Amino acid sequence: MKHSAIVGAALRRDGISSSPRSRRKAAPTVVAIALAWVSALALTAAELPHLRPQGTAKQLIVDGAPFLVRGGELGNSSGEPDFLRPSWPKLRAMNLNTVVAPVYWDVIEPEEGKFDFATVDGLLADARAAEMRLVLLWFGSWKNSMSCYAPAWVKADSARFPRSRDSMGRALEILSPFHAVNRDADTRAFVALMRHLKTADPQHTVIMVQVENEIGMIPEARDRSAEAERAYAAPVPSALMDYLAKNRAALAPELLATWNAASGKTAGTWSEVFGASPPGEEIFMAWHFAAYVQAVAAAGKAELPLPIFANAALIRPGYQPGQYPSAGPLPHLIDVWRAAAPALDFLAPDIYFQNFSYWAQAYTRSGNPLFIPEALRAPEAAVNALYAFGQLDAIGFCPFAIESNTEFAAGYLAASFDLVRQLTPLLAEKQGRGLTAGFLQESVESKQPQQVQLGRWIARASFERAAPPQLADGLAIVIGAENSALAAGGRAGAAPSGGLMIALGDDEFLFAGIGLTITFASTEPGQQAGILSCAEGRFENGEWKHFRWLNGDQTHQGRHVRLEPGRFSMQRVKLYRYR
Ligand code: DGJ
Repeated sequence: MKHSAIVGAALRRDGISSSPRSRRKAAPTVVAIALAWVSALALTAAELPHLRPQGTAKQLIVDGAPFLVRGGELGNSSGEPDFLRPSWPKLRAMNLNTVVAPVYWDVIEPEEGKFDFATVDGLLADARAAEMRLVLLWFGSWKNSMSCYAPAWVKADSARFPRSRDSMGRALEILSPFHAVNRDADTRAFVALMRHLKTADPQHTVIMVQVENEIGMIPEARDRSAEAERAYAAPVPSALMDYLAKNRAALAPELLATWNAASGKTAGTWSEVFGASPPGEEIFMAWHFAAYVQAVAAAGKAELPLPIFANAALIRPGYQPGQYPSAGPLPHLIDVWRAAAPALDFLAPDIYFQNFSYWAQAYTRSGNPLFIPEALRAPEAAVNALYAFGQLDAIGFCPFAIESNTEFAAGYLAASFDLVRQLTPLLAEKQGRGLTAGFLQESVESKQPQQVQLGRWIARASFERAAPPQLADGLAIVIGAENSALAAGGRAGAAPSGGLMIALGDDEFLFAGIGLTITFASTEPGQQAGILSCAEGRFENGEWKHFRWLNGDQTHQGRHVRLEPGRFSMQRVKLYRYR
């Protein structure tokens, strides 16, 4: 009914007569147009952002094409449109294509059942005006463990909306995941948000949604409310036991170790199966948090099936469950979250630690696509992004509190995101096919070179950081005037070092990054590797624009490729073998 009304309206707009005489004559045209319209509608539906596998990768498809999120997450209190409005030019200057923005439960549902989406609509309008996409963060029941974004009518009525409790019986400002009433109130609000987006955002400015934020139990490993205690004494649900038994060979090693050390049993209460220790208690909480999130996410997806994910605060070295926000979507709990929350498309890390590659890699376990909604806002972000896209087939990378980025770090991020922008078609084509790699120091102090093999070539990169940044005239040519102006604001601190590599053919490679010296070896015994040609340039509308040949001192007379320290650049290199 709806479709024929729309088709009718479209035909009238297009001046097609509807008189009986002309109707018969025009029938084929009308039918053709109607079919075209219906298939256009189908296309729109099909073009909802979604994930699509390519080789070992999963890509985010937006408007029918792979989309790499060059993002930044807003500071927690910067998501209101009037406050944010002056920052959009700065966000654009950093070459972002996506802003990761919170939606606050207490703001959209100030009174139970009465929704106010003015902030969401303002964000949509401003993002569109800035030609950017949005990833929305649902600050619902939990934000960094706590329930600080629950509306006042929830917070003030703990008899109706029960809290988690500690082992002394004290209530915490953490909604208990063991109460359906909490879950259902959150679900109703999230559903209302997704329903609103369905009509307010037909062009899919919103490309993904994060549900809750950094869920985790703290300061003890488990909720001790009466309902939680009852659940803890009950048998482990067979859905989890069956999942673990079925996927035993592929389980996260830490989970398997906890399970085996406790009992290895396939039935029993939580403490009988996983042990009455903090690691076992964490598994119990993970199941229940994830089951709650599943209900919220699945109901939201039923309204608008955008990709939905959950994020985690990572673990400080040596911390035990209860000391860190426990039971969140952490790598050692990936199987529990998967079993309980299949509506989530992936789990995501917030990486503030120096060992970026360790944590980023942990979130590629068993096919989880890597999206980093929060990362440390530092000069290193610029190279961490290249590593994530080049080495780990990332969907996206987003430094936190992006609107507050200092000019120093913003300049590097702008230059790095400019490279990602130029390389997006190539990366999109090569991801998941073993044709890309990333270079990153394991830590800022590490001087260890890194070796990667692509096809029949081995590339060995060593790292060099420039301090302070060299803002030579050439920088403006490579990163663009507006970025060079941002970078020029920088004063102190070392430039980052790292980058990525893409195979263009068997013997031809593209390098993008900063502060790298790369030597080559052939995998074939007895053969030497030589540089046939090396050019600096850039991609414009997918086409390589030659800037200059690099030779002589710039390649150490043919011995290496060097991406200068202190300046992001891109080089196209042909290799050859000789004896
Ligand atoms: C991680 C949280 O997810 C963010 O919302 C914010 O609180 C940052 N930590 C602060 O560093």
